[in-house]
Amino acid sequence: MDKILVEGGQPLSGEAKVSGAKNTILPLMATAILCDGPLILGNIPRLKDLVTMARLLQHMGGRADMDGERAELDLSSLTSPVAPYEVVKTMRASSLVLGPLLARHGEARVSLPGGCAIGARPIDLHLKALESMGARIDLDGGYVVARAPAGGLKGARIHFETVTVTGTENLMMAATLARGRTVITGAAREPEVVDTAQALLAMGARISGHGTDEVIIDGVDLLRPASYWAMPDRIEAGTLIAAAAISGGEALLRGVPHAALEAVYSKIREAGVELHEDDDNLLVKAGGPIRSVNIVTQPHPGFPTDMQAQFMALMTIGDKASIITETIFENRFMHVSELNRLGADITMEGRTAVVSGVRRLSGAPMMATDLRASASLILAALAAHGPSEISRVYHLDRGYDRLDEKLASLGARIKRVKD
Ligand code: EPZ
Repeated sequence: MDKILVEGGQPLSGEAKVSGAKNTILPLMATAILCDGPLILGNIPRLKDLVTMARLLQHMGGRADMDGERAELDLSSLTSPVAPYEVVKTMRASSLVLGPLLARHGEARVSLPGGCAIGARPIDLHLKALESMGARIDLDGGYVVARAPAGGLKGARIHFETVTVTGTENLMMAATLARGRTVITGAAREPEVVDTAQALLAMGARISGHGTDEVIIDGVDLLRPASYWAMPDRIEAGTLIAAAAISGGEALLRGVPHAALEAVYSKIREAGVELHEDDDNLLVKAGGPIRSVNIVTQPHPGFPTDMQAQFMALMTIGDKASIITETIFENRFMHVSELNRLGADITMEGRTAVVSGVRRLSGAPMMATDLRASASLILAALAAHGPSEISRVYHLDRGYDRLDEKLASLGARIKRVKD
């Protein structure tokens, strides 16, 4: 198992390119199940989760060739509509195959995703919505056993009381091959939902309203082969912005999805960091003291929960106190006690953390607990004086394409070693 060593106190400088987005490529790979031939995807980063999804598609009898930034998927000869526990337990996003399997093959057997470090994360809303499309859903031995009615899923009005990103994607995919019209209200408006809809449109689906809280899908008989270039990763971009800011440095980021980052940009600017947009490049200039800023995580277009931990790391060196409220997940403060090991001053009360800025962090050994927490520990270590080591970085590799190498290319004193 790897760990990451950081020698802090070095302002970042130079340039880095943002990779393709994990949270759009996972649903994009699931859309291949709906397609009547090969689906070619571009801008594929090197992530553990994408390898897991490819393995799942192969397990179903499909072809999933990942070659550098390109993936060729062909599920037209799927033999087994099953997502086994062994795969789903390592990546809960595997439940994204449920809607497409039901729509295309009329049946699915998908392991229920267990709990997760950041919260219970049930998929009850996905299941309820599929039932409203006529699916029969049973639970058997930890598996969701789903069967479409004769003639296939039927269009329905679906309302999500809670905004759910993969729930919206799952139902949007299922509805593309259903009979008639489906209207999803309370839909997630995340850029990754929009990107998934764009890919489905390229395959011949009929979708409108994506990016708003009401998405309309008119079912078609078949989705045809297509090629699609996935959007860049706004959370990776946000993480690199926070890295340049916390180190007091400067960085030029290439391939940044500005429109998807408005909430993050406004908080970063409020914290006193300069951001200069030019085409799809972003120049990040920090130098002055970091100002303490409050954030409340919300569904898009609000401040993303996937940037909460990284922003908290930045606030540890703020000039006053910052109040951070996490409204999406019930247990997404696992990084707090680790950041306090560096001499940060963070107290928690339920879903609210108060971060009192300190003048100096000092290096220490820390342990990563989940994907975004691991990134926040690395950021804080960049600002800390002296050496830090972060263990359990397998969390990081699930969702970041060689983040340590990108930070090293920006001048960070960081390296990966065997633990
Ligand atoms: C997606 O997860 C992302 N994952 C998460 O990113 C992200 O944090 C989350 O959306 C919120 O933005 C992918 O896209 C693969 P939700 P998802 O359903 O879809 C509750 C990362 O770091 N809920 O929008 O699983 C749920 O418990 C990951 O890259 C139900 O109660 O999240 C949560 O409190 C972490 N029942 C809230 O809704 C349901 O059926 C939002 O979850 C579904 C969700």
